[in-house]
Amino acid sequence: MNTPTRQKILLIGKDGQVGWQLRRTLAPLGDIAAFDHPHLDLADADQIRAIVAEVRPTLIVNAAAYTDVDKAETESDKAMAVNGTAPGILAEEAKRLGAGIVHYSTDYVFDGVKQSPYTEEDEANPLNVYGKTKLAGDHAIQDSGAPHLIFRTSWVYGIRGHNFLRTLLRLFAEREEISIVDDQIGAPTWSRMIAEVTAQCLGQAFSPSTGITLQDISGLYNLTAAGETSWYGFAQSIADQTSAKHLVPKVSRLKPIPSEDYPLPATRSKYGVLSHQKLNNTFGLIIPPWDEQLQLCLACME
Ligand SMILES: NC(=O)c1ccc[n+]([C@@H]2O[C@H](COP(=O)([O-])OP(=O)(O)OC[C@H]3O[C@@H](n4cnc5c(N)ncnc54)[C@H](OP(=O)(O)O)[C@@H]3O)[C@@H](O)[C@H]2O)c1
Repeated sequence: MNTPTRQKILLIGKDGQVGWQLRRTLAPLGDIAAFDHPHLDLADADQIRAIVAEVRPTLIVNAAAYTDVDKAETESDKAMAVNGTAPGILAEEAKRLGAGIVHYSTDYVFDGVKQSPYTEEDEANPLNVYGKTKLAGDHAIQDSGAPHLIFRTSWVYGIRGHNFLRTLLRLFAEREEISIVDDQIGAPTWSRMIAEVTAQCLGQAFSPSTGITLQDISGLYNLTAAGETSWYGFAQSIADQTSAKHLVPKVSRLKPIPSEDYPLPATRSKYGVLSHQKLNNTFGLIIPPWDEQLQLCLACME
């Protein structure tokens, strides 16, 4: 019998890019109590504890985060409360209830010096406030003793929410030419793929027939699309694919520029590619390349 044991899932951040997709992919695993920012503020420790006490979950899935990388430079206390402190409170509550916790981390915990895919064991050295706060959240969960899955991802996009794909499609309508940074290398990752892989990993942990538990596989896993590109390469592929499919009336001319020509409040690393070896070895999952994921995502717009 391969039916997963039914869970009582507390899903936080239900209206974010990944959270919205998780509402669908987690549904076969159990009953979901899903919260958005107005109804559960992760900056409010008392509210977190009250909602966990009310829901009494067997699994907490935290897809919420303070994700405005540039604003975090000037709102570091708020970013730390949401990204650094709240995950620790959630994990503490999970541990107390005998529940598990799923959480998401970022390639921005690395400084980009390495030049070959980062593994889960590589030392972090964030270059910006957002990366520092996310790393604090990872450590808080790891130190909690609660069974956990932390999925470290990058460059998240989809047909919903604030992301590079949607910004570019808007700019195609407004501008003749768009300058895009071509010296930051990473892996654009479709929100839906993240949610689907999350559910598959949990399905394995909750299926009695697999003989594994969440405790057995507890840890940090890189979860991004395979392959790598620059923001310019990603933009070029979006332009090529959307014009080939006639998804937009016109595309803009794209101009590659160095990061120095597009100064932003938060420093970005030049290299944030993550290795999938651990995910493949543990769950037997092969992650599709970023351009195939983009194709699948754009097919949802047709
Ligand atoms: N986006 C990326 O490129 C990227 C890259 C690497 C890792 N990640 C990580 O992946 C996870 C999912 O990211 P995403 O792209 O789905 O993020 P997203 O689309 O920005 O969604 C984040 C959600 O968190 C909510 N939120 C913000 N502050 C909150 C608070 N104080 N209390 C409760 N909810 C709050 C937001 O609600 P409001 O909008 O109403 O504030 C939003 O619904 C996050 O852990 C993120 O750090 C993202």
